[in-house]
Amino acid sequence: MNLVDVKNVSFAYSENNFVLQNISFSLQKGSVAIIGQNGSGKTTLVKLLKGLLKPKVGDVFIKGINTKDTTAAKLAKTVGLVFQNPNDQIFKNKVLDEVMFGPLNIGQSVDEARENALRALEIVSLTEKSQENPYDLSLSERKLISIASILSMNTDIVIFDEPTIAQDCWGKTRVKDIVRLLVSAGKLVITITHDMDFVGECFERVIVLNKGKLLLDGSAKDVFSQEDVLSAAYLEPPYITQLCHQLHYDEVFLSPESFISYYESHRQKKETNDAKH
Ligand SMILES: Nc1ncnc2c1ncn2[C@@H]1O[C@H](COP(=O)(O)OP(=O)(O)OP(=O)(O)O)[C@@H](O)[C@H]1O
Ligand SMILES: [Mg+2]
Repeated sequence: MNLVDVKNVSFAYSENNFVLQNISFSLQKGSVAIIGQNGSGKTTLVKLLKGLLKPKVGDVFIKGINTKDTTAAKLAKTVGLVFQNPNDQIFKNKVLDEVMFGPLNIGQSVDEARENALRALEIVSLTEKSQENPYDLSLSERKLISIASILSMNTDIVIFDEPTIAQDCWGKTRVKDIVRLLVSAGKLVITITHDMDFVGECFERVIVLNKGKLLLDGSAKDVFSQEDVLSAAYLEPPYITQLCHQLHYDEVFLSPESFISYYESHRQKKETNDAKH
């Protein structure tokens, strides 16, 4: 069974003003980035996956259950959504209470919720802040607290809306590690982002929205090799992909690490060959 099935979905906030049109895709465990210019419908799409909005046309199924036949509260056990702005999510005045809220809300005992909250704080490397007021923390730390609040529920599907915005280098590294950890734990990780370098480094599949329509859906390599299609949607591949393309490499590189290891192995082969001759 797929974790997510989106079937011919259209959505309008107001009568007939459709902001998503005839979207279809299925997702299993792994990592998926949803990209698209401002207003292309990314946040609307993930609100449909979370059951906060219901399609006007078509259906969204989460683990085979139609979101029209359930509630966002029931889906909370399966789908976690980390909001773009942590201030829209955080409302308790102690970090531990904030991170325990989700688990308690889905019916866990206090002991279970505390254990899961402490585990989540460890994952985001903020265990030592557990007794502090979230509003005394930096924006970067508050974003990580809002991530911990979702990780503590241990949902099969974790959705991030712009997790790298307002993150310094330390925070970005944490976010990348968290995505990789969740994927290796067999979760489905979905992110909305404008940060193409982050997509190239961490995401296997990319879905491109353009003016409410699905423009591309494929592996990161496939999608980022289509520079012309992307540029028509005002998007561009990761910097390393663009650089290697301009240097006429045939291969599509998605991260500096992948390019460096390719480059080093070619350099070593050349040195060995040169030494032979
Ligand atoms: N609550 C709302 N009521 C009415 N229209 C809305 C609402 N939320 C979003 N829209 C409109 O729906 C369209 C898609 O918005 P959405 O927020 O899903 O885009 P997005 O791709 O997430 O954009 P961004 O990259 O700026 O976050 C936009 O035209 C937006 O103005
Ligand atoms: Mg958005």
